Amino acid sequence: MPSLSVFGAQWGDEGKGKIIDLLAREADVVVRYQGGANAGHTVVVAGVKYVMHLIPSGILHRDKLNVIGNGVALDPLALFAEIDELGSRGVVIDGSNLRLSSGAHVIFEHHRRIDLAAERWRGVGRIGTTGRGIGPCYADKAARTGLRIADLLEPERCRARLTAALAEKNAHLRDVHGEAPLDLDQQLSRYMALAERLAPFVGDTGAEVRAAYRAGKMVLFEGAQGAMLDLDHGTYPYVTSSSTGTNGIPSGAAFPARWIERVVGIAKAYCTRVGEGPFPTEDSGPEGDRIREQGREYGATTGRPRRCGWFDAPQMRYTLELSGADGWVMTNLDVLSGFPRIKVGVGYRLGAKRFAEWPASLASFEGLEVEYEELPGWNDDLTAVREYGDLPAAARAYVEWVEARVGVPIVMLSVGPQRDQIIPRRDAPLVHSSV
Ligand code: GDP
Ligand code: IMO
Ligand code: MG
Repeated sequence: MPSLSVFGAQWGDEGKGKIIDLLAREADVVVRYQGGANAGHTVVVAGVKYVMHLIPSGILHRDKLNVIGNGVALDPLALFAEIDELGSRGVVIDGSNLRLSSGAHVIFEHHRRIDLAAERWRGVGRIGTTGRGIGPCYADKAARTGLRIADLLEPERCRARLTAALAEKNAHLRDVHGEAPLDLDQQLSRYMALAERLAPFVGDTGAEVRAAYRAGKMVLFEGAQGAMLDLDHGTYPYVTSSSTGTNGIPSGAAFPARWIERVVGIAKAYCTRVGEGPFPTEDSGPEGDRIREQGREYGATTGRPRRCGWFDAPQMRYTLELSGADGWVMTNLDVLSGFPRIKVGVGYRLGAKRFAEWPASLASFEGLEVEYEELPGWNDDLTAVREYGDLPAAARAYVEWVEARVGVPIVMLSVGPQRDQIIPRRDAPLVHSSV
C-alpha cells in the first residue's frame, strides 16, 4: 500500500503524532501538507516525550525522509527552534532526512504580530488562535503578497518583496492596531540570514515525493489540526486557515488526488477542542472536568486547558466521509475507564427541527442541542491491554456500538501515549504489512 493519508477527524489533538510515528515504521516518506507550527503532535518513545510542531512525526525514525510540503505555512524561526531542540536530544536533522518545499509560504514576525493584534481587535468574537501567525500568512498567500521560501533564497527578490510587504503591514500595525512598526533593516537581515540556513533543506518536494511514490516507496501524509477546523468544511469562522483533511493533500503536497490509496481518520473515544467556537457535545460540568484530568487534556502547543466532551457520531460520519476514509483509529479509550456511563451524541435539535446528520449548512450553532445515548462504562485499567479480546466486555461493547453508528471500521485502538499501547482491530493491513 504505497500511499496513506492520516488525518484528524475531530477538532485536533486526536493523537495523530502517536499514530503517524507508529505507521512511519513502515513508511519511507512522511509528508506534512498544511498548517504550520500551530500543530503540536506528541510522540512518546520509551517514556520520553517529543512534541513536533512543523517537523513531520516520522523524524524519530532515522532512515525516513520527512517532507514539509508547499501547503505548509513555515515560520523559519519556529523550524530552527524545533531542529535545535530535537538536536539537543540526539535527533539529528539535516537535508538528508528533512526536505522543505521551495513553494511553502513564509511566516514572518509581522504575521505573528498581526495574528495577536487581530485577536485583541475581535474581542468577544475572538477565534482563540494559537498566535503563530497562521491566518495572516495564508491571507497574504491568497492576496498574492506573501513570500515563499524560493523568494527568501534570492536576496534581491526577497529585499524587494519584503520591503513592499512591510510597508503595508507596518501601516496596518500602526494605523489599525496602534502598534509600533517593525524595523525594515532588522527584518531583512534576520530573514536573509535564516535563508542561508534554510537553503540545504530546500527543493521541489512535490517532484521528490512523486518520484518516491512512482519508485514504489510508501508515502504517509500527516494531517495537522482536525477536519472540524477545516477552512471550508469546519465550524467557520472558528477554524484554522487551511484544508485539514485528505482534500488538502493534492494542492499542499503537489501529489495527485488519484494517487492517494488509503485514508485513515484519527479520533478520540471522546472529544476535545481548544480555542473558541461550536462544540455541541461539550460537557462543561464535572464529567468534562474528569475527562480533562484523566486524559491530561492540556494543549501541546499553547498549554491551554482543552474543552472536553463526548464522542459525536454524526460529526464523525461527516468528517470521515469528506475525506473518504477507509477506516479510523480510536485513541484514548483508556481515558474513559471509571465513568459509570458514557454518553455519545447521536443527533441534534434546533427548536422544532431535528438533524440526524451534522448540520453543516447552519450559519451559527447557537442553541443547537444534542441528543445523546448512554452506554455502560467499565472500571478496569486498559493501558496494558494489547489484544482486542482482552478488553472488558463493556469497553468492547462501546467500541462496537460507536463503530456501527459511525459506519466506518475501526482499524486500531490506542490505550495510552506510548508506541506499544495499541490494539490491532482488523486483519486488513494498513500499510505494507499489518501493524
Ligand atoms: P495530535 O495533535 O493529534 O498529535 O495530538 P496531541 O499530541 O496534541 O494530543 C494527544 C495527547 O494524547 C498527547 O499527550 C499524547 O501523548 C496522548 N495520547 C495519544 N494517544 C493516547 C492514548 O491512547 N491514551 C492516552 N491516555 N493518551 C494518548
Ligand atoms: P494539532 O495538529 C487543536 C485551533 C486553535 C484555534 C483555531 C485557529 O495539534 O491537532 P490558528 O492558530 O490555526 O489560526 O487557530 O484552530 N488549532 C488547533 N486546535 N489542535 C491543533 O493542531 C490546532 N491548530 C490550531 O486553537 O481554535
Ligand atoms: Mg496537537
